[in-house]
This record gives sequence, structure tokens and C-alpha cells, in this order.
Amino acid sequence: MTTPDTTSATEATAATPVTPLTAVTAPPSRSALSITDLTVRYGGVTALNQVSLTVDPGELVGLIGPNGAGKTTLIDAVCGFTKATGQIRLGDRSLAGLSAGARARAGLGRSWQAADLYDDLTVRENLTVGAYTPNWRQTLKEVFWGRAHHDAEVADLLGITHLLDRPCDGLPSGQRKLVDVARALAGRPDILLLDEPAAGLNTDESRQLATRLRGVVDAGTGVLLVDHDMSLVLTVCDRIVVLDFGRVLAEGTPQQIQRNDDVVAAYLGTTAQPDTPEPDTPGLDTAQSDTASPEVNRD
Ligand SMILES: Nc1ncnc2c1ncn2[C@@H]1O[C@H](COP(=O)(O)OP(=O)(O)OP(=O)(O)O)[C@@H](O)[C@H]1O
Ligand SMILES: [Mg+2]
Repeated sequence: MTTPDTTSATEATAATPVTPLTAVTAPPSRSALSITDLTVRYGGVTALNQVSLTVDPGELVGLIGPNGAGKTTLIDAVCGFTKATGQIRLGDRSLAGLSAGARARAGLGRSWQAADLYDDLTVRENLTVGAYTPNWRQTLKEVFWGRAHHDAEVADLLGITHLLDRPCDGLPSGQRKLVDVARALAGRPDILLLDEPAAGLNTDESRQLATRLRGVVDAGTGVLLVDHDMSLVLTVCDRIVVLDFGRVLAEGTPQQIQRNDDVVAAYLGTTAQPDTPEPDTPGLDTAQSDTASPEVNRD
């Protein structure tokens, strides 16, 4: 007589390791950006002098400083648009020697201080252009998650879904800035470097941008935010790095930065002295702070 197999079908199934569906369909984990001793020289000008900083996934780091401090140079150097010495790593991968295109494919996205949209294209088409980084990783992602789905997700994060089929020509400046950020985000970067996204925005538009940037960060992207709008930076950032003459002058929470005498002397001036309350979650509730932008350093 044979002993009956008492193992039920359910138990047999339970004993078999099964890869959860989410492990297949969820986006891969994001990488941190780590910059060490970054130095850039333009002829006799040392635009960046041994600057080190990090941006973690899901972290919003502000990079501030007077005109000419080296903020744009840092973004250019990290993204491969200007030569630099020092180390730049994305996760455990060194970006040394990679072209700008390869760095974008590796997971960096950026916006430009003087960039503009493709006005004769729709918002959706602008996102498609921003997402164009042909490589196997991207193709695989699009097979799993879909291009259109991702565009919709990005548009939703930035609050521009209703604009997707509109031509960019004629959009108000606040919406254009949101489309600009969405275009940089469309390439699914691990780390997004934004160069003055609030330039030219009014207080309401800047506040809306803060809310949207917080959403981007909470969805897992690490963001380095360069801007002169202190209401935006001091309220929305988790951490702030201050550059002056190409060097890191200070680093800390928005509250620490506001109280730092060197930063006040070099950049903030007295207008930023009144304390903004420490927010539980940086940013949104206090985005109406009266903290002024430093007048002398504004473009
Ligand atoms: N292509 C270049 N050739 C020579 N010098 C440059 C070049 N780009 C920037 N610089 C110089 O490098 C320094 C840093 O400039 P950068 O544009 O990075 O400053 P920034 O902090 O972005 O200033 P802003 O707040 O005005 O945008 C400045 O002295 C600038 O004149
Ligand atoms: Mg600049």
C-alpha cells in the first residue's frame, strides 16, 4: 500500500519561492549622487574648488550662493558638460570619463538656467523629447511600464495633466516652468538637477512649484535645486549647501543655514533673518514664508 501524499496543492505552491509581481513591475531602486573634491577651472578662473556634496534618493538638496558662486558650473560638471577633476558617483558607479549622454542614460536629469520649451510642440511631445535616451535599460523600462503611462505619471506629479495636448506656445510662465521640470523628469532620472526653475515666477507660482517638487521627491527622485528664491529654497529643501567663490561655505538644514553668520554675510543679508518655524515635513505648510530673496544677488 502506498502512503497517500498529504501535501495539498496549496502547500506545494506555498513552498515554491515566487517572485512577487511588484518585484518585476516596480521601478528599480534609485541611486544616490555623490560628489567629492569637484574642481573646475576656466582658464585662470577656479569656478569650483574641491566641492563635495551628496544627494540621496528622495532627498531635496538646495544649492545656493551669490551670482558667480559656481552653481551652474557644478551642474554642468556633474552632467558632463564641462571638464572637472574629482569624483562623481551615481550609486556605486563612477561617472568619470562618461559623456553627457551616457550620464543621462546612467540616471542624471537636468534643467537649464536659460532653457526654453519647444514651443511648436505640445506638452506631451516636449516630454517625449525629454525622455529620449535610447538604450536597453530604457527600452526594458518602457516594455514593463509603458511610455504613455510614465508621461501621464510625470504630468500628474507636476499637475499639468490638463495641458498635455496643448502646444507650449502661449502657456503662462508658471506652467512653462512646470513643463520644463516635467521634461527633465521624463527621462526617469534617479537624480534631477534643476537650475533656477523658479526664476521669473511670482509668489503663487513659486509656491505651486514647491508643492510639485515635494511630490517628485516623495516619489523617490533625488533633487538638487539651484535657485535664488529663498522662500522656495528655505521652505522646501531638506538640506542646503551654500557655495561662495566656488567653495562650500556652509551646509545644513534650512534653519541652520538661516542662522549661519557667514551665509548671512555672504548671501542672505539681513532680509532672511526672521526665523521660519521648523516644519515637520519640509516645505509646504510654510511655503508662504515672508523670508525674502536676497536682493543684491538676484539676476
Ligand atoms: N564657460 C565659461 N568660461 C569662463 N568662465 C566661466 C564660464 N562659465 C562660468 N564661468 C565663470 O565661473 C564662475 C561660476 O559661474 P556660474 O555660472 O557657475 O555661477 P552661478 O553660481 O551659476 O551664478 P548665477 O547665480 O549668476 O547663475 C563665474 O566666475 C563665471 O564667470
Ligand atoms: Mg547659474
